[in-house]
Amino acid sequence: MASILLRDVCKSYTSDVAVIRNLSFDIRDGEFMVFVGPSGCGKSTVLRMIAGLESITSGEILIGDRVVNDVHPKDRDIAMVFQSYALYPHMTVYDNIAFGLQIRKIPDHEIKRRVQEAAETLGLVSFLDRKPKALSGGQRQRVALGRAIVRNPAVFLFDEPLSNLDAELRVHMRAELSRLQRRLGTTTVYVTHDQVEAMTMGHRICVLRPCGNDPGVNNLTQVGTPMEIYDTPDNLFTARFMGTPRMNIVSAKITDDGSDVYFFGHRLHVPPVFREAAQRYKGRDVMLGIRPEHIGAADEVDWTSTSSITGKVEITEPLGHEVIVHFEVQGETLAGRLRSHASLPKMGDPITLLVKTESMHLFDPVTEQRLR
Ligand SMILES: Nc1ncnc2c1ncn2[C@@H]1O[C@H](COP(=O)(O)OP(=O)(O)O)[C@@H](O)[C@H]1O
Ligand SMILES: [Mg+2]
Repeated sequence: MASILLRDVCKSYTSDVAVIRNLSFDIRDGEFMVFVGPSGCGKSTVLRMIAGLESITSGEILIGDRVVNDVHPKDRDIAMVFQSYALYPHMTVYDNIAFGLQIRKIPDHEIKRRVQEAAETLGLVSFLDRKPKALSGGQRQRVALGRAIVRNPAVFLFDEPLSNLDAELRVHMRAELSRLQRRLGTTTVYVTHDQVEAMTMGHRICVLRPCGNDPGVNNLTQVGTPMEIYDTPDNLFTARFMGTPRMNIVSAKITDDGSDVYFFGHRLHVPPVFREAAQRYKGRDVMLGIRPEHIGAADEVDWTSTSSITGKVEITEPLGHEVIVHFEVQGETLAGRLRSHASLPKMGDPITLLVKTESMHLFDPVTEQRLR
């Protein structure tokens, strides 16, 4: 097993455009780290640089104690699984899993033992003689996993391995992969654009964004456990990216005494965590974030610190266990959450909901950073 360390890694494919800028982070031995971010932000590039499939423009990558900048991919002791399973169509499942070991000249009996063990782990024992075309998508993806597992590498690298599966299978494989990683304890880097995968699978999450042209901006917006990222997003990018439905984010203003914040003409008490910061932002504009689950109906919640807000219903989305209600307040659309389906409000109906003020998030409108 091994830790992974990136130090000020930069990557430009063409001379002038940075795709990755000054990226630094560490992944602990045995950790499951998820990289999440929108399409095009450089996730695959980071993974391919760790794998050695892509050169780095500057900086350092360490696997364990070893700087691997100039180490050939096959000597890095990693196994990578891609979105496309890339199985050999003319080979059986057994041979697909065994192939990487055969070319490494591992003795036959050892190959047999490892393939058998992986097949048992992945529920593929009865499919070993089949060709890939006779398998379902989920089974094929498991063969691709098997090929990685038998290598017994120090590091697994996954690049959106579940994206081609249908929704049900994705949920199933998500749990299976997490379980497998916890059991093997192999250091894992998992790339996805899907924030639900990020929330559910990783020990920690790195939230990435495109680094753009500003030389002061790098790709990393926040690293933390899933709940740290969800509960205390460091900046507006993370706040918007993590969570479905998305956090409501609106312009607001701190009162002149720094005790309250104006929110659509209401005064909300600044919660204790932001009280000190609000003193520095007296009379100034801020961005206020509130998650839809913190806007609810008076008879359905038992929050202690609340303020009411009135708007006009735009649309309701009944999800079975809850209803998301989108409503308009002074030209802005907000989302709240109702528990009951009993009498759904209709489009155009006035609606008054409570805001759980202690769960608000405050950000600087210019730097977009969380108030500290
Ligand atoms: N081989 C390449 N040559 C030039 N540009 C590339 C190459 N590969 C990726 N890019 C660019 O780098 C950026 C990041 O790509 P990628 O790492 O694939 O993002 P992600 O995996 O997050 O979707 C994109 O703008 C993409 O167009
Ligand atoms: Mg990608």
